Amino acid sequence: MGSGGREHAIAWKLASSPKVDQVFVAPGNGGTEAENLVRNVDIDPMNFADLADFAFSKNVQLTVVGPEEPLVEGIVEYFSERGLLCFGPSQAAARLEGSKSFAKRFLQKYKIPTAGFQVFETGDSAVRFVKTLSAPIVIKKDGLASGKGVFICETIIEAEEVIRKCFSEKKSGFQGLLIEDFIKGEELSYIALVDGADFKAFSTSQDYKRAKDGGIGLNTGGMGAYSPVSFVDDALEQKIVASIVTPTLRGMIAEGSPYRGFLYFGLMVDPSREVYVIEYNCRFGDPETQPIMMRLKSDLYTVILAALEGRLSKTTLSFDDRTAVSVVMASRGYPQAYEIGHPIKGLENLKEAKVFHSGTKVKEDVLKTNGGRVLAVTAMGSDISEARRKAYESVHEIHFFGQTYRTDIGRK
Ligand code: AMP
Ligand code: GLY
Repeated sequence: MGSGGREHAIAWKLASSPKVDQVFVAPGNGGTEAENLVRNVDIDPMNFADLADFAFSKNVQLTVVGPEEPLVEGIVEYFSERGLLCFGPSQAAARLEGSKSFAKRFLQKYKIPTAGFQVFETGDSAVRFVKTLSAPIVIKKDGLASGKGVFICETIIEAEEVIRKCFSEKKSGFQGLLIEDFIKGEELSYIALVDGADFKAFSTSQDYKRAKDGGIGLNTGGMGAYSPVSFVDDALEQKIVASIVTPTLRGMIAEGSPYRGFLYFGLMVDPSREVYVIEYNCRFGDPETQPIMMRLKSDLYTVILAALEGRLSKTTLSFDDRTAVSVVMASRGYPQAYEIGHPIKGLENLKEAKVFHSGTKVKEDVLKTNGGRVLAVTAMGSDISEARRKAYESVHEIHFFGQTYRTDIGRK
């Protein structure tokens, strides 16, 4: 389920399993449609009834959910009530992403390191609080906001404006504001396959959230990613597991909502190598999925079944030792207004890269742009610079009107 680069990478990997005959992607994109053993079906991921009818009619054995909205709205329970196997967290467990105030209270209750915070339900109380702080100030909308709910304010005045605006707009899903301490450091994506009690990590990865080179410009869904992340050594990973991952799984069991599914820990590693949870996502990351799936050697279908059956303690995930780099090609203007419908050329003769599609669509047999993030050009190399060189060589072969991309993915 889903239509992004993350779903293309997951569908591609599932289709490579000897146990999989056919993968359907609802609704998919131009890239999933062209993949061997993969077919698009034109059903919206929020239309649970049609999705379940379709799964029945095609005797679908396993449904894998890409994006967060269906999970937060309870698709796993809906499928299970209809006797269908669907991999992902329950609606209650998906609150780790769906409700920031739930996540923060959970982190606090189980003593998992995170930025200090307060929750506000009125603008006046939030403004009064902000006046007692020093910048930068981190303001987050509660409820799902598709990555557009976080503001890092450089001044108190800017913070006041953001607060006033959020409370006057009150978009649907808005449940109040969180104000939290700013943590300086290096971001890290730690994504795990979880079966309730046990987990296996999908290596380590890092994405590039800002629109422009050097980490400036607006926050986006992600302009590139790579895996693995070399600054994570065994000691740091052990700390992540002991202070964050294990207490999270135990905490969810104690809350009566054991977590089963992909779980994304958005982490910040500070200069003294202390690690904090910035956010949880109840799904895979996009574009982190693309380099991770390039490196994953295990059969994704088999390991998901192991997670569904609670057998992860006896399962291993293995990865190619090489580094994978993924460069996102976007439509000019993204993450704000952009055009779609432009033909994409140059994908035929790429030798060194796998191109995962995000916003693309085939119209009258022509592949066209259909979104802000268009392609994730992904390559492997013996080290990050080789992977980066191969990815950019392919990026330079691809052309569409208004294309834009960062030139510094994989180079810090
Ligand atoms: P999120 O959507 O929660 O991942 O937030 C978007 C971005 O804002 C993150 O990737 C971080 O770069 C930044 N951010 C969020 N919370 C904090 C924080 N408490 N301290 C520093 N940066 C943060
Ligand atoms: N790349 C960040 C995310 O998927 O949330």
